[in-house]
Amino acid sequence: MKTIRHKDSSRPAPSGELAELRARLAELEETLHAIRGGEVDTVMVAGKEDSQFFTLEGANRPYRVLIESMNEGALTLTGGKLILYANQCFARMVKCPLEQVTGSSFRRFLSAKDLAALRPLIKRSAKTGSQIQVMLHASDGSLLPALLSIRGVANEGSKEVIIGMVVTDMTEARRNEELLRTFTQRVVQAQEAERGRVALELHDGITQMLCALIVHSQALVNKLAPHDAAAKSAAMKLSGLAGKTVEEVERISHHLRPSVLDQLGLVAALRATGTEFAERTRVAVKLACVKLTARLPADIELTLYRILQEALRNVEKHARARRVTVRLTLPNACVQLAIKDDGIGFDPAHHPARQNGKGGFGLLGMRERAAGVGGTHQVKSSLRAGTEIVVRVPLPRKIRKPDEQTDL
Ligand SMILES: Nc1ncnc2c1ncn2[C@@H]1O[C@H](COP(=O)(O)OP(=O)(O)O)[C@@H](O)[C@H]1O
Ligand SMILES: [Mg+2]
Repeated sequence: MKTIRHKDSSRPAPSGELAELRARLAELEETLHAIRGGEVDTVMVAGKEDSQFFTLEGANRPYRVLIESMNEGALTLTGGKLILYANQCFARMVKCPLEQVTGSSFRRFLSAKDLAALRPLIKRSAKTGSQIQVMLHASDGSLLPALLSIRGVANEGSKEVIIGMVVTDMTEARRNEELLRTFTQRVVQAQEAERGRVALELHDGITQMLCALIVHSQALVNKLAPHDAAAKSAAMKLSGLAGKTVEEVERISHHLRPSVLDQLGLVAALRATGTEFAERTRVAVKLACVKLTARLPADIELTLYRILQEALRNVEKHARARRVTVRLTLPNACVQLAIKDDGIGFDPAHHPARQNGKGGFGLLGMRERAAGVGGTHQVKSSLRAGTEIVVRVPLPRKIRKPDEQTDL
């Protein structure tokens, strides 16, 4: 059995003669050697009045072998964040020899801000486990994004709480998140460009041809002799059908690239979408919008408009709602769009699309659209309590806050 003695740093170092210092140095070297070789069973922390022992019992050795070989950092700390034990992986993460990690303070690897956030989690770790994302400060000055999973572990025979910590390197996860974000924003941009192209083709191509069809069928109606009633009626039906098809194509084309948004601005476009939705689905839509004194930047208008479209699509597809409220406000130099339904709701952390990996681009697309204009996107929902989507985008300075609201 090997014991490490750790002097509590609050205790003044004895003024020393050279021989005593040498002896201590030799002892420390021997200790470090033992840590490196995995021979340490006990860490002793010398306090002002008495000393505390932290032991690794023999029965725990197999776990220790396991922990040594795992690909995540593992630590045990005292409540005061002194590192009692660290595995090799953690030493590699902080680019520091293991012998310099064990017995030192965990504080040295964190910023003041992360330390402040960690403190309350450590305090309640005896009761509940918790997680926190931090930036680890490695000894060469580099930073490593890491997830700390914290849990109080029993320490028989001592009043001091021991904290067990698993440290996961998040570099790869962050990179993947960044990639997903870039990818989603590209998809959103490509979708927007493609919608514009299809809308134009529908308008310039199919609508023009349908208009020609209406003109010709009208001419046919006029040319047919009055006694040929059956043919005349069929030609009139043809003309009427062509007229309805034009309306439908215009509706689709409008949905793809709303000219009302370009021409009349956001509020008019939100209103037109709300009205069309209410008429088609029979779900009541209440719209409350601030009066905007100036046009918002085109990318923000388009973002909010698309988010409303997607949110309403979700209401129609999933919510079984009777009522939807759409609210456009200007809180704190931001524009905020909130879409709230009184439908069945869902658990945003565990919705089916997320679990089975199918579909689910709607909410993700909304988030990325909002992020694309520097905004935030929140989903507030719980089962049987409806859903609210809240998007908030910071505005350029010149757009003032008006106080009037208009209702549908
Ligand atoms: N307003 C809503 N009411 C109830 N459930 C919703 C609502 N919006 C989204 N959901 C749930 O969230 C999931 C993900 O939505 P979304 O990302 O738009 O993907 P999709 O609509 O393709 O399934 C839906 O499958 C549904 O379970
Ligand atoms: Mg959807």
